[in-house]
Amino acid sequence: MEYPQHNLGLDLVRVTESAALASARWLGKGEKEKGDQAAVDAMRLSFNAINIKGRVIIGEGEKDHAPMLYNGESLGTGQGPSVDVAVDPVEGTNLLAYGRPNAIAVVGVAPEGTMFTPGSSFYMEKLVVPEAARNVADIEAPVEDNLSKIAKALGKDVEDLMVFVLDKPRHRELIEKIRKAGARIQLHTDGDVAGSLMAIDPTSEVDLMMGTGGTPEGVLSACAIKGLNGEIFTRLNPQKKEEIEALKKEGADLKKVRNVDDLVRSEDVFFAATGISGGTFLSGVTYTGKGAVTQSMVIRGRTGTIRYIKSVHNFTKLMKFSSIKYER
Ligand code: FBP
Repeated sequence: MEYPQHNLGLDLVRVTESAALASARWLGKGEKEKGDQAAVDAMRLSFNAINIKGRVIIGEGEKDHAPMLYNGESLGTGQGPSVDVAVDPVEGTNLLAYGRPNAIAVVGVAPEGTMFTPGSSFYMEKLVVPEAARNVADIEAPVEDNLSKIAKALGKDVEDLMVFVLDKPRHRELIEKIRKAGARIQLHTDGDVAGSLMAIDPTSEVDLMMGTGGTPEGVLSACAIKGLNGEIFTRLNPQKKEEIEALKKEGADLKKVRNVDDLVRSEDVFFAATGISGGTFLSGVTYTGKGAVTQSMVIRGRTGTIRYIKSVHNFTKLMKFSSIKYER
């Protein structure tokens, strides 16, 4: 048997907290780029205090367009384990800009070479289910068949099911099929990492997530799904002409189904998320005058431990030395 190992997730939560604290200042201000930039800057500074040899696999995009946290960027002190890093400093930039629920700061870390690299893929179709339904869900099956099998596995009627779907024109047909089958739907404008987390959390009112969202968000979600023994089935689903052409050039197989083990090929995965705007499963940043209160979740893949961490931040002390500007 092993002695307890270092839980990198407990370092990562400081990274997501810093991103949330910095970006929540922009809540509802209609400036999604500025909110995202504040989170990126804070996240990068905090990451570089962690003893890892990290490489960004899921970042803010290609180097030329993303000055920080770009794909391929090195992160960490350069000492410690070599790891793949997935970041989304603000998952739901519009949610932040318009003060809507469920904007979160998110990171995932897994051993080097184990994370799926999206290449030119921006969008993938996803079906996310909790542990109890992982053996019956099938992304290739008709929607109504999936819903009836998933409902049975969860011990519910189809009419009891709550399906998380992004409210996008591309989902018109999917929404019709879900309604026809009799299940209930939560439509969210953005934020399918939060949707995936709700789907795998047995205490949430959401039972599953269906539909097409970001490929990077799929890999990030997989880091959490691993720890909770849930399942995510995915298929690349390009939405734009350039994306279709680039994937064709890469020889990507659009029919291939990838599950959680294909998106993150290791159990040794860590995930942390901090609420920016208040949401269904994490509270948002509350400024108190003297500082702020944050709520985060940390998941360790190997043990499946989930920690909910409430942190009380003292700006009077912090701002004497922190290079991250948390105060107004
Ligand atoms: P951003 O934080 O990058 O704005 O992403 C928000 C999001 O809603 C994701 O949760 C989702 O996967 C993706 O956008 C869907 O993309 P689109 O809005 O282009 O359909």
